[in-house]
Parts: sequence; C-alpha cells; structure tokens
Amino acid sequence: MYTRETLFVNEKGHLSVGGADCADLAKEFSTPLYVFDEAHIRAMMRAFKGALDEYGGGGRVLYASKAFCCEAMYRIADGEGLGADVVSEGELYTALRAGFPAERLYMHGNNKLPQEIRAGLDAGIGCFVLDSREEACRIEAEAAQRGIKQKVLIRINPGVEAHTHRFVQTATPDSKFGFSVANGEAAAMTAFVRTLAHLDLAGYHCHIGSQIFERRSFEIAVQKCVAFMAEMKKSQELICRELDLGGGFGIWYAEGDRALPPQGYREELSAIGKEVERACEQAGLPLPFLLMEPGRAIVGEAGLTLYTVGSVKETAHRTYLTVDGGMFENPRYCLYEAKYTAVLAERASEAPQRTYAIAGKCCESGDLIGLGFRLPETKAGDLIAVLSTGAYHYSMASNYNRNRIPPAVLVKDGKAEYIIRPQTPEDLVRFDTIPSRLKP
Ligand code: LLP
Repeated sequence: MYTRETLFVNEKGHLSVGGADCADLAKEFSTPLYVFDEAHIRAMMRAFKGALDEYGGGGRVLYASKAFCCEAMYRIADGEGLGADVVSEGELYTALRAGFPAERLYMHGNNKLPQEIRAGLDAGIGCFVLDSREEACRIEAEAAQRGIKQKVLIRINPGVEAHTHRFVQTATPDSKFGFSVANGEAAAMTAFVRTLAHLDLAGYHCHIGSQIFERRSFEIAVQKCVAFMAEMKKSQELICRELDLGGGFGIWYAEGDRALPPQGYREELSAIGKEVERACEQAGLPLPFLLMEPGRAIVGEAGLTLYTVGSVKETAHRTYLTVDGGMFENPRYCLYEAKYTAVLAERASEAPQRTYAIAGKCCESGDLIGLGFRLPETKAGDLIAVLSTGAYHYSMASNYNRNRIPPAVLVKDGKAEYIIRPQTPEDLVRFDTIPSRLKP
C-alpha cells in the first residue's frame, strides 16, 4: 500500500489518516463516510503553487472545483491563495457563499446558460473561458449592458492525444470542447472575439484530458499552444497575456500507477513551466501569465471512503463483499472501470489471502467498486477503506435507489469535522411534490 506522512498503518494495525484512526472515524461518524486529509490537500496546493512561483512569467493555480465542490474546499483554496475554476451556476454559487473572491474565479463550460453568464458577470468573476461563438455574443451583449469590458480566454483544441480513458480525453480531433487549431477554427474565433468591443481577449486555454501521467503530453500541448500564439501574433498582432494549461495531472489509485509525493509533482510541474519559457523564447514571445487547473491531483489522494461489509457471498466465479456504498457514491467503476486499492482498516498490516469483488448495494449487477481486490479473510462487519476517492466521487454521487449520499469529514491533526453533513430521509423527498388530485 502507498503511504505518506498522514496516511499509514498505525501500531494497532489500523489505517490512520490525518492523525485519526479510521476505526474511530467509523465509530464516530458511521459508514459509508468520505474522509478528507486537509494536510495533504494543502500540501498539493502548495506543490502546484511552488511550481508556478518558479516560472518566470507569473502564474496562478485554479482549483478545478468539479473534482470536489463544497464550501470548505473553497475556504482551503482561498487560504492557500489559489483561484478556482467553476463550470456552473451551482459551483459559482458555492464559491461565492464560501466567501471566495470572485476575481479569482474562471468560468468554464461548453454551454454556459444565459443565467450562468449573468450570474458570473453580476458577481464580477475574473474571466470566462469561451467555448462557442454564441456564448461570446451573449457575454458581449451582457457586458455592454453593464458598461464593462470582460476578460476572456478562448479554449483551443491543440490536438494532443493523451493516454487516458477515452471518456476523459478532451483534445482529440472530434472533441466537443474547444476550437481546433488544426482546421483554423481557433484562428477564426480569435479574429471574431477581437471584433467584440466588450471582451478583452487575454489569451488561450487548453485541457488535454484527465489522469495523465506523461509529462511529454503536457510538453507537446505547450509546444502546440505556443506555436499557435506565435501564429496569432504574426497574423493578428495578438499578444497572448495568459495561457491556461488546464488540469489532468494523474494520481495514484492502485498498483501500476505512479505514486508521487507533493515534491515530485512540484518538480514535474516546474518542468512544464520551463517548457513554456523555452518555447516562448524560441518563438520570440513574451512569457504569458501561466494558469493550471488541477482538480484530481489536489483532492484525489487526500480522500478515502470507509465502508462496512454487509455480507460475503460466494458465486461460481468470485467472492463478493457487499458494502454499504456503491455506484450512488462512487460511479467511477461503472463509468470508467476505474481501479482502486482497498484496505481492511482494522487489519491493515495483515497479509492478503483472498481475492474479492466489492459490490455496492444498488439494484444493478454492474454496481461494483471493483474486482480483484486482494485482502485478508474478510467477514461481515469488517471495515473497508477504499483509497484515493477524493476526486469525482462526492461530486458525481447521486441518490440512485434513494440511497443517501454519504457525509464527508475533514481531518486535521486527528480532529475530524463534517464538511458535508449527513443526508436525512427528509432530504430525499425535499423536491417531491404531489399534485392535489393524487393527494391521499
Ligand atoms: N480544467 C478543465 C477545463 C477540465 O475539464 C477539467 C476536468 C479539469 C480542469 C480538471 O481535471 P483534473 O485535474 O481533475 O483531471 N469524471 C472524470 C474526470 C472528468 C474530468 C473533467 N474535466 C473522472 O472521474 O475521472
């Protein structure tokens, strides 16, 4: 198992996270439970920030809210001096309610709704990342009405094939995101946006995909973006002041994935900054302010999920452990066949003896946390920790089968507090309404 200063097996053989024993957390807060290690979140934010501090043109880390969005996360990001990327009115609302400074918010989305655009402008967000002409026109009209000039970036598709699951690849030639550099759309959009008097085109954004390990993919993206910036300078006399390289930095989930401490990330990211410096110098361009938008790398490894085993069932092909969670709180196996590591939280130092499939409690055969988990002999009542569940778990959870989305606690120096409170049965019927003719 991969360990770190705030995630290890303690002297009792229990899994300890953020200074707290997972068995105690399960007792105090019950299961299923999302647990977040604040020290690791902060360490990762500082790693990204440190790398950008080394870059000559200045920069900012934008936490990609979609990975895990709640008010406490924005408090942490604000405290660390980060900006954030938001992709909906809901994320924007959460950030503002948490007191996050609007000018450090960048709004994404390939179909921002008119009310989302208005909400962003009303709040005074720092920047919109444009993904369609229609949207540029809508922002232009709203900005004109307000008598302001709104900073925007254009999302470009540099056409980089990153090695990751096809559903999370975003810069392939037929992606729905961005304007293709190769077919001239990005250049045409640049010319178009510059005709709009209330938009200030500061530069470009690209995001090549998610869960990417190869530094090379990012370096190629940098080279393609800088080449495009040079072309825009030559043909349209546009000086790109900001370059946003998106997110997508891979994390450790299971054996075979690279495990990098925060310092390792810092080194990898510094190399990307160096590549921007090198490419810009070669192209004779001034260094743009550099943005990065990590989501998974900030919160992924910082999170784990605690479950209680409800039953053990032998079938012809495998032994299932059924837990009190499932696809309603972790849809990633169903969506991407994502791989995880499971640990018996109270017998974490025992050698694995058997291979188990871990199934959820939803009424679907495909409702799995995964197959092929190596664990000691496990029985009903045992406590299981699934690691690296901080990103895209709570944020993609649902109330499928009217299961309650688990609460989340934030742990620091052994002290745990709710950051997402437990749902109640009343929460599940909060939006239901019965037409009067059907009332009992
Ligand atoms: N910036 C943009 C424009 C993005 O679209 C994304 C992720 C990010 C930043 C953050 O990427 P990260 O650093 O977290 O990889 N639900 C999938 C992941 C979808 C990612 C979507 N965009 C999963 O569970 O793997």
